[in-house]
Amino acid sequence: EYIKVFAPATVANVCCGFDVLGFALEQPGDEVWVRRKDAPGITISAIRGISGLSQNPEENVVGVVAQKMLAELQVSFGLDMQLHKGMPVGSGLGSSAASSAAAAYAVNELLGKPFTTEELVPFAMEGERLASGSAHADNVAPSLLGGFVLVRSYDPLDVVPLGVPVELYCSVVHPQVELKTSLARSILKKDIPLQKGIRQWGNLAALMAGLLKADYALIGRSLHDEIFEPERSFLIPLFKQAKQAALDAGALGAGISGSGPSIFALSATEQVAFDVRTAIEQVYLSSGIDLHAYVSQV
Ligand code: HSE
Repeated sequence: EYIKVFAPATVANVCCGFDVLGFALEQPGDEVWVRRKDAPGITISAIRGISGLSQNPEENVVGVVAQKMLAELQVSFGLDMQLHKGMPVGSGLGSSAASSAAAAYAVNELLGKPFTTEELVPFAMEGERLASGSAHADNVAPSLLGGFVLVRSYDPLDVVPLGVPVELYCSVVHPQVELKTSLARSILKKDIPLQKGIRQWGNLAALMAGLLKADYALIGRSLHDEIFEPERSFLIPLFKQAKQAALDAGALGAGISGSGPSIFALSATEQVAFDVRTAIEQVYLSSGIDLHAYVSQV
């Protein structure tokens, strides 16, 4: 019998929190199935919901994450895994992270929970290293832990789960152009001008305060990214128009989800979140670009 685990999509960065802040959506997400087999080694016997992903366990995030866990515990038996993708890759919704998180959680269950959920974060980060060349945690941590999660430090890893301190709804629109995280990271400038840095950490600190004080106006004033969004947004067709449409429809703020091309917006009510989704969809109506769109409570 397989152990079956679902892990959700996530929105990373959340504007001003590049590589250090993310939150989980309710859906979409991926499922990983895992069962024990006596022969050592890992097999990936099926991948459903998507084509083109490798079933070689060394080339697939679920295999890499599971292998790290087996090696850490010096387990002698093997695993058979299945990956059921509920979302596209290269979407900016933490697709590889959802697979990695589900794999880590499922393998931990199968092994009798030797690790706490927080201790699974570094294993899931190995999936991100394979997928994007960078072991960032701002998708895998919220996919594993739920709600908002802050990554205070990477070395040593210090992950701060914030839960969901305030009622928020997220609209996500995914224009179907594939954008690889590795590419969207490779174009970033390595240095940050001081004035932009000051505004960014002011916004991130204020966003934290706004969440914890349930101050919607402060959340809205803080959802800005003057550093990375301008460097990346040209990769996303109609980004400026889509963001403006979201704000005009009443969103508290909007930006690039992860490394894109998905666009996310946060709203105080579900009704506004649906209006925001519709407003962004309108922008793409005559563009010939296909969309996936979701509204999810945070
Ligand atoms: N923080 C990462 C980035 C998330 O923006 O590159 C990738 O989903």
